[in-house]
Amino acid sequence: MTPAQHTETAPSESAAATIAGLRTRPRRTVLAVPGSSVKMIGKGRGLPVDEVFLDLEDAVAGPAKEQARENVVEALTSGGFAAPTVVVRVNAWDTEYTVRDVTEVVGRAGAHVDALLLPKARSGAEVRALDLVLTQVEKAAGLPVGHIGIEPQIEDALGLTNIDEIATASARVLTLVFGPADFMASIGMRTLTVGEQPEGYAPGDAYHHVLLSILVSARAHGLQAIDGPFLKVRDVEGFRRAAARTAALGFDGKWVLHPAQVDAGNEVFSPRQDEFDKAEGILAAYAHSTSEEGGARGAVMFGDEMLDEASRKMALVVSARGRAAGM
Ligand code: GLV
Ligand code: MG
Repeated sequence: MTPAQHTETAPSESAAATIAGLRTRPRRTVLAVPGSSVKMIGKGRGLPVDEVFLDLEDAVAGPAKEQARENVVEALTSGGFAAPTVVVRVNAWDTEYTVRDVTEVVGRAGAHVDALLLPKARSGAEVRALDLVLTQVEKAAGLPVGHIGIEPQIEDALGLTNIDEIATASARVLTLVFGPADFMASIGMRTLTVGEQPEGYAPGDAYHHVLLSILVSARAHGLQAIDGPFLKVRDVEGFRRAAARTAALGFDGKWVLHPAQVDAGNEVFSPRQDEFDKAEGILAAYAHSTSEEGGARGAVMFGDEMLDEASRKMALVVSARGRAAGM
C-alpha cells in the first residue's frame, strides 16, 4: 500500500486551527494530579497553573485504575479548573489499559479534554495508534474529529532514539514532555532522587543531552518542550534551581507536583521584567533601524550591543513569552 492509499484523512481546517491554538498555549507550570484522589483533584482545580493533567498512569495503582477513570470523567464533566488547559494521562501501550482509558474518558467527557498525555512513547507507531483510537472514539461520541491533542512523553532510551518520528507521527502532537524518573531507570543512571544530579557526576549536567535532544526535536517540528517533575516537593529552592536550568535552555515549562512549586514555576518560566523590557526595546530599535525612515540598516547598536536579524528573533521569543504571561 502506498502512503496515498492509506485510509487516513487530513485534519479538517477547524481541527488544524484548534491544534495550532493548543500548541501555543502557555505551559509554564503543568500540574500532575492523581486520578485516584478526589481530594487532590479538588485541590488541583483551584491552583493557578497553565495546564493540569489528571493522571491514570503511574500515580494510580492497578486496582484503582477503574475508579480513577470514573473520578476523572466526573472531574472533567463538572469542570471548574483554574488551568486553561486540561489534559488526561492515559496508560502506556504496554499495559492493558490504554484503549479503555481513551474509550471511557474521551467517550464520556471528551468535550472537556484538550489533550491526552501519552507516557513512555517509544515510536511513531504508538503515537499514530493513539491518534487512530482517538479518532474512532471521537466519531462514536459525536465529537468533532481531531480537536484533541497528544502530548508524548519521552521516558526511555528507545523513545529518545525515535524522538523525531514521535514528534511527527500525528497532526495532533502538541509538545514533547520529559519523564526523568522513568528515563533514569531506563538508562541505568545511578540515583534515586528524581530531578537532582546523580552523585559522582558533578561538575556537569547529567541531563543535558536528553534535555537538549527533546528541545531541539520539539523546535524542529514546531512543538513545545516540557520538563518533568522534581520529586523533593518541600525543597522549593531545589525545584527553582532545576527549573531555572531548563528555562535557561529554552524549555517552555515544567511539571509541578505540589502547591509549593507553583509560584516558583510560573515565575521561573516567565521572563523577568528587565528581560521583557530589554526584548521590547530591541524590537523597537530594530524595527526603526530597518525601516526606510530609520535608514534601512540591517544592523544597529542597542546600548553596547550590535543587533541584527538574529537578535530580533531572540527578542521575539522573550517578548512572546512575556506577553503570554500577561506582561
Ligand atoms: C514522569 O512520568 C517520570 O517518569 O519522570
Ligand atoms: Mg514516567
